Amino acid sequence: MTKLKISSQNILNIEPYKPGISKVLGKKEPIKLSSNENPFGCSENVLKAINESFKKIHRYPDGSSTLIREKIGEFYKLNPNQVICGAGSDEIITFICMAYGGAGSEVIYTEHGFLMYPISAMATGATPVKVKEKNLKADIEEILKAVTPKTTIVFLANPNNPTGSYLTTEEVRALRKALPQNILLVLDYAYAEYVNRDDYPDAFQLATEFDNIIAIRTFSKVYGIPSIRLGFGYACDEIIDILNRVRGPFNTSTMAQVAGVAALEDQKFVKKTVEHNTKWLKIVTEELAAIGYRIYPSVGNFFLMDFETEKRADSADLFLKECGIIGRQMQAYGLPSCMRFTIGLEEENKLLLKSLKEFKHG
Ligand SMILES: Cc1ncc(COP(=O)(O)O)c(C=O)c1O
Repeated sequence: MTKLKISSQNILNIEPYKPGISKVLGKKEPIKLSSNENPFGCSENVLKAINESFKKIHRYPDGSSTLIREKIGEFYKLNPNQVICGAGSDEIITFICMAYGGAGSEVIYTEHGFLMYPISAMATGATPVKVKEKNLKADIEEILKAVTPKTTIVFLANPNNPTGSYLTTEEVRALRKALPQNILLVLDYAYAEYVNRDDYPDAFQLATEFDNIIAIRTFSKVYGIPSIRLGFGYACDEIIDILNRVRGPFNTSTMAQVAGVAALEDQKFVKKTVEHNTKWLKIVTEELAAIGYRIYPSVGNFFLMDFETEKRADSADLFLKECGIIGRQMQAYGLPSCMRFTIGLEEENKLLLKSLKEFKHG
């Protein structure tokens, strides 16, 4: 043991984040349905832009991410000065916790919410407060019951990963109205592009209207560039100013900045991805439900499936790996009897269906 003193004992409570696995012993090219990635990869435009940017690899990136913030502003009709970019939306979550969390504060997240919320909160010495969900959906009453004078942040993934459920405009507005003004409501919209429901809240509109809401987005999902690390937050000037103070000087790379611009410019690619996802999410979930599997309704690019017991979920995981398919086990999310699967390419989805049918009847 060293004699070093860590900044907060809470760090010892952190269970390091375990990403979805990508290798299976004996399988050359397994089908990875474990990380909610885009099965089409990314736009050709993005690859060209990144290639071009290599010429400038010896130069520091633009520390203010100016071009990509301006592009985001133009595309989503937002003031670029109210946008902050990060190395993935994970980094925006970190900035939020650094700025508004810290020792003595409490950070609320929901029972099966994204794992980086408690991890980032604990890293700053804050106490994460996990609240119950109702039928695997965030529950406003439970969130409000958990509020104390120490609460500074409420994290809400909408839709949530891994459950796929979402809160409606009416519900999010009711939550914001009932929460004390001094609590920051984080609307994590990592999967927003996939949602096609009329009652899905417009997070940018809400963050424009309320000076205690931040909307966060990522280029890792529909835009298909998770390895390049780019995400952003949109909020009122004051929040963005505070977050910029805890941000490192060159937190997004030149490659990420040009990739983001090129990605936004290729909306054809986004349309193709979303249409494919809508079609296959419906086919896969309906076919699995029809043969008796319990599927939770999802509006994202993934779905959660309940195998009733942890043992059965473990066997399914092993069986699928033998078929060359990697899903995501859900122990870390408090759902040990479940697995989460990302919607893949047509042939990948067909193989998943075939394999799960075999598993059911085997
Ligand atoms: C709900 C949610 N938020 C944020 C993220 C972080 O994404 P990234 O840091 O790649 O932008 C993820 C990734 O899986 C997610 O599911």
